[in-house]
Amino acid sequence: MTVKEETRFKVPYLPSSKDQTLNIMKLLEGRTGRLADLGSGDGRVVLAASSAGFQSTGFEINSILVAYARSKARWTGVPSGQATFVQKDFWNTDLSTYNNVTAFLAPGVMGVLGEKLLKELPDDARVIACRFPFPNWPQQSSVGSGLDLTFAYDMSSVRSHLRKVPNTVVS
Ligand SMILES: C[S@@+](CC[C@H](N)C(=O)[O-])C[C@H]1O[C@@H](n2cnc3c(N)ncnc32)[C@H](O)[C@@H]1O
Repeated sequence: MTVKEETRFKVPYLPSSKDQTLNIMKLLEGRTGRLADLGSGDGRVVLAASSAGFQSTGFEINSILVAYARSKARWTGVPSGQATFVQKDFWNTDLSTYNNVTAFLAPGVMGVLGEKLLKELPDDARVIACRFPFPNWPQQSSVGSGLDLTFAYDMSSVRSHLRKVPNTVVS
């Protein structure tokens, strides 16, 4: 990554509010399987998802936040394997084994993140975006309002929508 790209992709730490976390879980109702939180911060989304039965992984570059999230998982007695925290840049992570992905990042990265997810995620994956929607992706649904507005996207619908858009190549 060049210095210019690194700056463009810089996303600060800002934890999800209680309502935002509830909104994420509402949009995941009825779903099961593996979940990745991209930029997992203090682990609150991963821990909420693991309590709901998801096998959840948080990818986080900040080592202090990773250590904090791991201790929180231990205090709260979450079985290891149900919630995992990995100190890793999610841009360099293959996400193809996840059928649920959550992201609370920044407006400037959503377009590029959408391209990555289109290349990697299976058709049955659902993506939840907090506060910042994906440009040009059709939403399946949304919940909340204001800063807690949260969006759900189903990859199969996103791909079939984008295939109809002229000059768009869909992976
Ligand atoms: C807005 S916070 C969201 C934290 C958490 N997901 C939540 O909802 O409470 C974004 C997080 O992404 C992390 N982050 C930013 N870029 C990253 C990258 N390339 N790989 C992994 N983590 C990243 C930041 O350190 C920060 O903790």
